[in-house]
Amino acid sequence: MGAVRRAEFVLTRGDDVWLFDEGGSRYLDATASLWCVNVGHGRREIADAVAAQMRELATYQTFGDIANPPALELTRRLAALAPVPGAKIFLVNGGGDAIDTAAKLAREYFVRTGESERTVLVSREHSYHGTQGFGTALAGMPGNRIAAPFVPDVSVVAHDDPAALEAEFERLGPGRVAAFFAEPVIGAGGVLPPPPGYLERVREICDRHGVLFVVDSVICGFGRLGDWFGIERFGVVPDMIVFAKGVTSGYLPLSGVVTHERVAAPFWDDPAAAPFRHGATYSGHPAACAAALANLDILEGDGLLKRAEDLEGELHAALRTLADHPLVTEVRGGTGVLGALELAPERLGADPTLPARVARAARERGALIRPMTSALGFSPPLTLREEHLDLLVDAVRGGLSAVL
Ligand SMILES: Cc1ncc(COP(=O)(O)O)c(C=O)c1O
Repeated sequence: MGAVRRAEFVLTRGDDVWLFDEGGSRYLDATASLWCVNVGHGRREIADAVAAQMRELATYQTFGDIANPPALELTRRLAALAPVPGAKIFLVNGGGDAIDTAAKLAREYFVRTGESERTVLVSREHSYHGTQGFGTALAGMPGNRIAAPFVPDVSVVAHDDPAALEAEFERLGPGRVAAFFAEPVIGAGGVLPPPPGYLERVREICDRHGVLFVVDSVICGFGRLGDWFGIERFGVVPDMIVFAKGVTSGYLPLSGVVTHERVAAPFWDDPAAAPFRHGATYSGHPAACAAALANLDILEGDGLLKRAEDLEGELHAALRTLADHPLVTEVRGGTGVLGALELAPERLGADPTLPARVARAARERGALIRPMTSALGFSPPLTLREEHLDLLVDAVRGGLSAVL
């Protein structure tokens, strides 16, 4: 806070893959804000849909039996797209809220099914699940574990080793673990695609131990991995899917949890079942839902899921041309429109601000990229075209060299 108090970088306008600052300079948005502006900036269709909804019914809560047309249409549409049978959707505001929702649903599910000892939530090293209560406790990025004491009954395992997960379930004991949380591709923790077969093995292990498998697709959904919920390409059926960001391309805050019919049953099947006492003032917000519906129309109408399938390879190929730079030790990507350049550990050891300095230097050369703990992250809008990649590579190479 102290470092930026007199040096804000003020953005005033966005247009497709471009952003403009208050001085009129133009930047390529190679991160789609925080991994979320999947349809690009300045889409009038979304602004118009939100304005029209606001003139009709701007806001109302959805507790009890109260609903509104955009919330109903959105949840029906998402349930039909979701890769789980009998999907039910719980809407909240942001990814961290949705993680808290999924964590509480998991524990409450087991209370209602007579296994109330199942309270432990397991996550992976390098994972990021937001900064609310449960997400902070689940964080696999040590720097994000702040403001302890944390929510109890949480443990973190290696990010790439199914055997370590199973060993942890066994160590915790039968009937103790409620849920395992995993991002299909770890995002903020460094862009780490899953090892081949990892998610499939995890599904089997969770089944064997009676543990709910919660997929955190906050980054991976809505086209980022070329499909709707960021998990379909792996052929795995989760028990819950957490989504946010790309559902509205970030135009308005909206997130939610998709539940498998098995998880929904104890809350839905018995008309006398106690309510799930959880929710937010803006759950099912009509204007946010209208933004999501217009965003889904664009993703479908512009064929952006298909475009993402090609762009993932184009982005990866472009980033690989930077592998020869002395500051770069690894290029990650190729699973979704996500990439990272890992920076030289000895240089990072000497200067932990290296990613921020390179990102700043790339910005001065016209591209916004994401500084992470030890790497630079890339997650452009799905509307990015191949010709933009030359500008990106030039700006990043120039930034790396300037810092070197
Ligand atoms: C995988 C993942 N989960 C959860 C979150 C938290 O989302 P929000 O920032 O909307 O609370 C993020 C945010 O980047 C994320 O990347």
